[in-house]
Amino acid sequence: MWVFLLKHRRYRTALLSSTTILVLLYFQSSVLVFNYSSYGFVSKKVPCACSICVADGGNSNWFSERYNPNIPLLLNSTNSALGANVSKWWKGLQSNAGNYTEAVDQLFSLFPDEEHYSDAGPDRCRTCAVVGNSGNLLGSHYGPLIDFHDFVIRINKGPTEGYEKDVGSKTTHRILYPESAMDLDNSTHLVLLPVKILDLQWLISAFTTKNITETYTDVPSTIQANKDKVMILHPEFLRYVYDNWAEGHGLYPSTGFLTLIFALHVCDEVNVFGFGATSDGIWHHYFETISTSYESGIHAGNFENETINRLQQENKILVLKGWT
Ligand SMILES: *[C@@H]1O[C@H](CO)[C@@H](O)[C@H](O)[C@H]1NC(C)=O
Ligand SMILES: *[C@@H]1O[C@H](CO)[C@@H](O)[C@H](O)[C@H]1NC(C)=O
Ligand SMILES: *[C@@H]1O[C@H](CO)[C@@H](O)[C@H](O)[C@H]1NC(C)=O
Ligand SMILES: *[C@@H]1O[C@H](CO)[C@@H](O)[C@H](O)[C@H]1NC(C)=O
Ligand SMILES: *[C@@H]1O[C@H](CO)[C@@H](O)[C@H](O)[C@H]1NC(C)=O
Ligand SMILES: *[C@@H]1O[C@H](CO)[C@@H](O)[C@H](O)[C@H]1NC(C)=O
Ligand SMILES: *[C@@H]1O[C@H](CO)[C@@H](O)[C@H](O)[C@H]1NC(C)=O
Repeated sequence: MWVFLLKHRRYRTALLSSTTILVLLYFQSSVLVFNYSSYGFVSKKVPCACSICVADGGNSNWFSERYNPNIPLLLNSTNSALGANVSKWWKGLQSNAGNYTEAVDQLFSLFPDEEHYSDAGPDRCRTCAVVGNSGNLLGSHYGPLIDFHDFVIRINKGPTEGYEKDVGSKTTHRILYPESAMDLDNSTHLVLLPVKILDLQWLISAFTTKNITETYTDVPSTIQANKDKVMILHPEFLRYVYDNWAEGHGLYPSTGFLTLIFALHVCDEVNVFGFGATSDGIWHHYFETISTSYESGIHAGNFENETINRLQQENKILVLKGWT
């Protein structure tokens, strides 16, 4: 069967004629599909306004089996209760206890308590760059391309200053935890990755008493960041990534992997930079010379790598590998 897709705005505009205008207006949030078995145009709901939409499950069974659009991504006061399984798994990751409900109460008296990113729809085309910290960014000249995205999501301590040509200068989101924290500018969302209750307590302390100065290692007692832009990844989201995308490999997913899956849920188009080794197989960060380990035991590097490769094969992401 031949299916003629009029998916892109460009084509729609080119085809505008007096007789088609009304029809096209009517179908603005749909694609027109010419269907030879029904002999005519039929409209089909599209999940977004980009030419390809991440959340479109129609083109990959592998993806649909794993992708759950209803998973809570970010914590707030109304979705904070943890199911028994999630609670057991999440609390098993950490070496110290603490009162979760108490921490949550304090969090949302300080930080925005709302639902973020429920704005997906046929009129939105949000492009995102997920920027990892691989040395393969050096010499890539990806800076302007990265900055061209609506969201630029960075990870841990990856700096922009001094590396603008290769990594860009814009940061809309930075995923971090106390041990990897750095100062942010006022327009960046601090997105906390909590693997322990102490991480939640640290976030509170960093904006109030500033008296938490160590976890299993020294951590900054405070950081510069816009309190009104703080977000916290939901423990249930961590578990979902572990179950559905890492398929239980490793102890819990790496920050880079979690960030990529997070992007699949808040963006319509995802481009991935600074993941993987350099072309001669070296694993290091672009901003420091010490080499990093690949399979750490905690995180399943090989399995995550395969999943990322598969996401690319399924046309869900584009991985840009740099040149060096
Ligand atoms: C084409 O039309 C037939 C019959 O109406 C329908 O079963 C089929 O799903 C349609 N195909 C597409 C791609 O819309
Ligand atoms: C909790 O985990 C057990 C064992 O892994 C499983 O059988 C059960 O279905 C899970 N319950 C929920 C609510 O996910
Ligand atoms: C946590 O704190 C709340 C309120 O302060 C209290 O009601 C609850 O019993 C505490 N939970 C635990 C496990 O200590
Ligand atoms: C919290 O997030 C959930 C989605 O995970 C949403 O349904 C709910 O409305 C949000 N609560 C608040 C107070 O915004
Ligand atoms: C940061 O942004 C907030 C609004 O989100 C504003 O109230 C505050 O004054 C800004 N701070 C600086 C230092 O620009
Ligand atoms: C930090 O201060 C708070 C409130 O004053 C207190 O409850 C908490 O125990 C202190 N924590 C540490 C690590 O000193
Ligand atoms: C990750 O996947 C890429 C692409 O298939 C491959 O070239 C690379 O060797 C893999 N890395 C590791 C460490 O397995």
